[in-house]
Amino acid sequence: MNFTEIAQNRQSCRKYDGTKAVEQEKLDAILNAAQLSPSACNGQPYHVTVCTGDTAAAVAKATQGMGMNKFVSDAPVQLVISEKPYCRTAAVGSKLKHNDYRSIDIGIVAAYITAEATAQGLGSCILGWLDSEKIKSICDLDGDIRLVICLGYASADDKLRVKKRKDLDELVSYK
Ligand SMILES: Cc1cc2nc3c(=O)[nH]c(=O)nc-3n(C[C@H](O)[C@H](O)[C@H](O)COP(=O)(O)O)c2cc1C
Repeated sequence: MNFTEIAQNRQSCRKYDGTKAVEQEKLDAILNAAQLSPSACNGQPYHVTVCTGDTAAAVAKATQGMGMNKFVSDAPVQLVISEKPYCRTAAVGSKLKHNDYRSIDIGIVAAYITAEATAQGLGSCILGWLDSEKIKSICDLDGDIRLVICLGYASADDKLRVKKRKDLDELVSYK
């Protein structure tokens, strides 16, 4: 798959085949892609915790407040993205330029992870509706939890949807 094909085929998967495990080689490919992600001053201010089994089930529950994200329990792997401190130069740059580089960096690593998941034939969904304190305690992490990404094989009947996006002339302008 080239990048355009990945972008066209990636979508938030909300229907998983809970009977199919994710192979370690596929998980490794996804984590290797995450490692290659760019970040402000190359600070990589995040950590990825791979959760499976009972830990994945507990993390899934922590994304389901107020009846949300029920589908997450069927995904066999949950990747927890937690914050790490800025490196010194990114901390200074962020303060001086009033720019939240860490959130940008975390968004990019999530994009790399989900793009590689698609390339590996796996479904994924980025989750921002989560209970950070609960997941910190489940995973024994200090940094705030910014995202969970669920991973697994999509159900056979989970078809590619038509993408709803802004028109290009609203999204882009030339000056
Ligand atoms: C930062 C972020 C947080 C998100 N949180 C959730 C979530 O908690 N639950 C969910 O079902 N989808 C969540 N999504 C998925 C978006 O709803 C989805 O990407 C968007 O509607 C576009 O659809 P697509 O991913 O299928 O192309 C999140 C996406 C991002 C980038």
